[in-house]
Amino acid sequence: MPEACETIRLRGARRSDARAIAAIYNEEVATTVATMDTEPRTLDAQRTLLREHVAPWVAIVATSEGKVVGWASLSPWSERRAYAPTAEVSVYVAADHRGRGVGGRLLARLIELGRAAGLHSLLARIADRNVVSLRLHYRHGFESVGVLREVGRKFGKWVDVRVLQRRYRSARAAAAEEARGRDPRRADHRRRATEGAPAGRRYAAERVPRSPRRPRTGSSPHRRARTPRTARAGGRGSEPRERPRLPPGEPRSGRRELPLGP
Ligand SMILES: CC(C)(COP(=O)(O)OP(=O)(O)OC[C@H]1O[C@@H](n2cnc3c(N)ncnc32)[C@H](O)[C@@H]1OP(=O)(O)O)[C@@H](O)C(=O)NCCC(=O)NCCS
Repeated sequence: MPEACETIRLRGARRSDARAIAAIYNEEVATTVATMDTEPRTLDAQRTLLREHVAPWVAIVATSEGKVVGWASLSPWSERRAYAPTAEVSVYVAADHRGRGVGGRLLARLIELGRAAGLHSLLARIADRNVVSLRLHYRHGFESVGVLREVGRKFGKWVDVRVLQRRYRSARAAAAEEARGRDPRRADHRRRATEGAPAGRRYAAERVPRSPRRPRTGSSPHRRARTPRTARAGGRGSEPRERPRLPPGEPRSGRRELPLGP
């Protein structure tokens, strides 16, 4: 059991920390849904992961009297280059050091490091029943962007995974959002507006607008009936067809207003 007055220090992870980091992680692999890994991480695999964590990807550890009692990392969210401004966070604390603020300090330091590295967004995927981790992330400015239902199966049960996001916003952007009545720390009004709503409404709120329709071509009699005579006469290689114009205020049959996407 840790002493009440013990000093916790944070520092960058070293190659020599690999064994301790893997031991903390593998405890969760074997006993909880904190990670969806089902096989213990080998020492070699852990060393490789540490070696690959070069800026902006970082791994840090929390130590007590020189012993590693927790670790955290920023890893690529996706290998696809355009996702480079986004990182995924991981935080793990040894079972006998939990509930003493170590996880909070590790996560706060990760957030600082991500900001310093110029990242734009942090993501966390957390099993929906991992309430301690959810609470930890909410307290550090993450907001829920949705739940992936029954995407994992561990210990014979389906696991829902909640995706949390924390964006780095300039003070100006945060002020602008607040002025619009949106609290940037707790905001997730799309979720609030649609959570619990019928599936159709959720779907509508998430749809993206369609791209504009291309002018119609082809020989359907219906299409021909709506095509001005002048345009039809030309055929292939003629001037671009003029689209029929409706008088102002005339309802456009068959056209639906699409909800705006995010
Ligand atoms: C999640 C984890 C990293 C939190 O680390 P920690 O050192 O215990 O966290 P802290 O002491 O900083 O506490 C974080 C928050 O959780 C709360 N908390 C801690 N232990 C708790 C418990 N047993 N029950 C309920 N809440 C608890 C704290 O009160 C604190 O909330 P607050 O800031 O609103 O007071 C740690 O529990 C852990 O390693 N869990 C297993 C691995 C895991 O789930 N990692 C996250 C993967 S997504």
